[in-house]
Amino acid sequence: MKILFITHSFNSLAQRLYLELTARGHEVSIEFDISDAVTLEAVALYRPDLVIAPFLKRAIPEAIWRERVCLIVHPGIKGDRGPSALDWAILNGEAEWGVTVLQAAAEMDAGDIWAEARFPMRQASKSSLYRNEVTEAAVAAVLESVAKFGQGGFVPEPLDYGRPDVRGQWRPAMRQEDRAIDWQHDDTATVMRKIRCADGFPGVLDEVLGLACYLYDAHPADGLTGAPGEVIAHDGGAICRATVDGAVWIGHLKEKREGEPAFKLPAAMVLGERLVGVAALSPALSRKRERGHLPSPVYGRGAGGEGERCRDIRYEEHNAVGFLHFDFYNGAMSTQQCERLLQAYLAATRRDTRVIVLAGGADFWSNGLHLNLIEAADSAADASWENINAMNDLARAVIETDSHVTLAALNGNAGAGGVFLALTADRVAARAGVVFNPHYKAMGNLYGSEYWTYLLPRRVGAERATEITDNRLPVGARQAQALGLIDACFEGDADAFRCEVEKLAETLAADAPALLAEKRERRRRDEAEKPLAAYRAEELANMKRNFYGFDPSYHVARYNFVYKVPHSRTPRHLALHRRVGK
Ligand code: COA
Repeated sequence: MKILFITHSFNSLAQRLYLELTARGHEVSIEFDISDAVTLEAVALYRPDLVIAPFLKRAIPEAIWRERVCLIVHPGIKGDRGPSALDWAILNGEAEWGVTVLQAAAEMDAGDIWAEARFPMRQASKSSLYRNEVTEAAVAAVLESVAKFGQGGFVPEPLDYGRPDVRGQWRPAMRQEDRAIDWQHDDTATVMRKIRCADGFPGVLDEVLGLACYLYDAHPADGLTGAPGEVIAHDGGAICRATVDGAVWIGHLKEKREGEPAFKLPAAMVLGERLVGVAALSPALSRKRERGHLPSPVYGRGAGGEGERCRDIRYEEHNAVGFLHFDFYNGAMSTQQCERLLQAYLAATRRDTRVIVLAGGADFWSNGLHLNLIEAADSAADASWENINAMNDLARAVIETDSHVTLAALNGNAGAGGVFLALTADRVAARAGVVFNPHYKAMGNLYGSEYWTYLLPRRVGAERATEITDNRLPVGARQAQALGLIDACFEGDADAFRCEVEKLAETLAADAPALLAEKRERRRRDEAEKPLAAYRAEELANMKRNFYGFDPSYHVARYNFVYKVPHSRTPRHLALHRRVGK
């Protein structure tokens, strides 16, 4: 089937649907929703059998949906309508939610229903729910709808609020007034819901220490209390603000500037001088842990205690296996985060274990360089240079580890340098739903480093390596396994994945002596053929041109990415219908 995606952007959900449909033999072409005229042109050029809108912010032009079936992916249960579906579901504390595939019609979200898939709600941010439960449900509902369409004769169900299974309702766009936090009355659970239902976009508008800003990245702060609304501590870039019955950590803020764009940054950085006088939390403990002098604490999300903040790097051990978690917001890894992770990694290599699992975060494994912090730096070129060198130091440490077998376990997506960082491990396993973007070129023709010129060809061969990096397309976990990019792919959710990873790690631990002998020998041969330092020097020579050279493409692309400048056209590699000769 020829399927045209009309979508606001090629976001994680659109990428996953693209992968699932193309894997089933469908041809998928993509057009970004830029204007009605452009969309109409795309339909005329491609003449698709079916139009799917995975992520739309505007209505599809009537001239299109009157002519052919257009399916809208709506992140809400049957009967739910409106542009803030998931926001309301989180704010209202729904126990169950879902995704509906609707046929486009005159009234927004009121078209006939092709399929619905439901899921239990989890206490998590909107973007986390979107990347996990919503995406899985959307895949199920879209595949069901496409199959029904392909078979022909299916009559979709008209929206009928009289039916018992139609429990949704029309809800307007959520306004900042609906999200606003009343620090004098809202308890921690309410504050958490308000911030989570707006995270990653648009954030909750608030005032912190006199600064108008949007709040993101909230976690309950166990054991800390203070006068409601007061900023009572800061630690590792996050601030802690008291509620009526506890406190919350807020990791990121975006300043509200009149008529001037802004972007998310670590909260302490946005507040700067305003934090003078606010207590830094247990700095001695933080520093010790960051230097890796405390090798095996089980701390972090959910661990709480001692008024400690939930930290982004966390280490735990099970038998002969050490698990290193690094849950960086949006998967972006700054120079400092790379350095802290390197110290934690080195501390893990000093433990009496046999396997180290690089577990990444719950939502992302890694998305490479921290583009927001680079954008905020006085010299973006210098900051990029420092960041890539810190990434490379970490990558080299993993590649050169001969005391432990290493396993990269990707429960969340990885992009650009984050993918190649995963390939530094001896084995790479991913959850089946994971999407890889193993290329840098989309970021202003960035050359990339992280030893990718060593790591990628040795896994997939030189020809495929060029194809993968030039194509600039997402690769699904199953496809990645078939290509040899990764070694194992496990079906199921995060819990099932964790079980499979534990089993795999135990097996690797049992085989560790032989695996390590093999690895040392291979590394010795590879190093003799071409030293790691040579790969790094070549890659960095190219990166230097990207950062400091006369062609500003990388800086322009990064600016557009960080400031979320809307697309002005669909890239040719996505719009098959715009390819010459097509
Ligand atoms: N630095 C800073 N922020 C990043 C980031 C990075 N490297 N990668 C992703 N993000 C942020 C996005 O800005 C977005 O922020 P938001 O919460 O404010 O909306 C969020 O993470 C999710 O990213 P998004 O692009 O919406 O996710 P996606 O799943 O649709 O796309 C990628 C995934 C990897 C294709 C895309 O995020 C990307 O191209 N990232 C940049 C990768 C890169 O070039 N890294 C630098 C070179 S190593």
